[in-house]
Amino acid sequence: MSASPHRVAVFGAGYVGLVTGACLAELGHDVVVRDVLRERIDALRHGEVPIYEPGLGELLARNAERLRFTTDVGEAIGDADFVYIAVGTPPTYSGDADLSAVWTVVDELPRIERRCVVVMKSTVPVGTGTRVRHRLDERGLGHVGYASNPEFTAEGTAVRDFMHPDRIVVGAFRDEDGDLVQELHAGIDAPVVRCDVASAEMIKLAANAALMTRISFINEIANVCEATGADVVRVAEGIGLDRRIGSAFLRAGIGFGGSCFPKDSLALKQLAANSGYHFQLLNAVIEVNELQKRRVIGKLHSHLGPLRGKTVALLGLAFKPHTDDMREAPSIVLAGRLLAEGADVRAWDPVADGGDLHGAVIVATPEEALDGADAAVIVTEWPQLADIDWAAVASTMRNPLVIDGRNMLDPEPLRSLGFVYEGIGRAA
Ligand code: UGA
Repeated sequence: MSASPHRVAVFGAGYVGLVTGACLAELGHDVVVRDVLRERIDALRHGEVPIYEPGLGELLARNAERLRFTTDVGEAIGDADFVYIAVGTPPTYSGDADLSAVWTVVDELPRIERRCVVVMKSTVPVGTGTRVRHRLDERGLGHVGYASNPEFTAEGTAVRDFMHPDRIVVGAFRDEDGDLVQELHAGIDAPVVRCDVASAEMIKLAANAALMTRISFINEIANVCEATGADVVRVAEGIGLDRRIGSAFLRAGIGFGGSCFPKDSLALKQLAANSGYHFQLLNAVIEVNELQKRRVIGKLHSHLGPLRGKTVALLGLAFKPHTDDMREAPSIVLAGRLLAEGADVRAWDPVADGGDLHGAVIVATPEEALDGADAAVIVTEWPQLADIDWAAVASTMRNPLVIDGRNMLDPEPLRSLGFVYEGIGRAA
């Protein structure tokens, strides 16, 4: 079944807005994506895709006749039935989400006489919907509906996640608004969770918190494995096969990064604190993650001693593979620390440009990064790294040390080539 076409305005041409717009067009709707960044809109009009997201370019091209791009609010709203808000909500100094871009959209909405639903896709604190509802009412837009429709797409798989989600969450104040948002998704085969707006907002934050908790949990198990001689890769496999636990998000490593987890963990922590609740577990999850990013430095010290004058190859820079996103990437903390200790950093990534790593030398291939290095550190598990010819590399490195921050390599072949291999939570 496919949806009857609707007219949708999407505010925000970032990762979330573009994926939402392209996927809604793929479902047959007419979509206008609006952003304040003229350059970005011009690029999109010329068929360029301003972000790296697999499958997005094809989707935009395939649905070009149902997609328009503009900087103009009036043109975007036109006769839209839905106004999606997909603007950034970055953290402020306190950790609270900065909702200024959201309020700008709400306040810019022109007089709308017809039936229309404002849909929040941006991740916002619980209670935001109620505040937006009041603002709409104050502005004489009481007949305009409001719904929360959080996104659960992950970068690198966002198009697939949108079209084949585990669930669609729709929170609304009025059932008819929720019905409309649900209808907009006709054609997607997934369970739909209908609820109140506050619960939908909390589902988003709680889902991310649950995933982060699993990562910090397995990272702490890894640290205990290291101290006791167990191998966390086997341990994760062994506990993940318990259906009550499940195997996803049990990969130990150098900590989570990205544009969502670090921001959303602070936002939820602050949301709780603002209402007088100290969220102990989440605080621990955040702290464990900060410490985990620094453990690689300790490993380098234990093998190399002081790092001044040593050359360290950082392999992979993006916060995870298949994205160029460097936001809150552990590589930034790692490189900063290495440079502060006087090490030379040679860094490689197939797509991220490494512009955030001030003082590091960015090179074009992993082999170039490894040439003359005292240590290789795998920071992001790009598949290309599985193809390195370590036998050839052995003779070009100054010191054959591999710290595998993502446990992606098989230790034995490396060790038989004379490498010292250390993963995270695996016997050294
Ligand atoms: C995450 C969620 O997975 C999405 O469901 C959510 O919609 C999104 O945030 C968001 O709030 O917008 P994303 O940040 O793109 O998506 O990436 P993930 O694949 O979840 O990875 C996040 C971080 O966790 C990465 O740094 C990754 O390396 C790390 N990670 C993930 C681990 O260290 N171990 C794991 O087992 C899994």
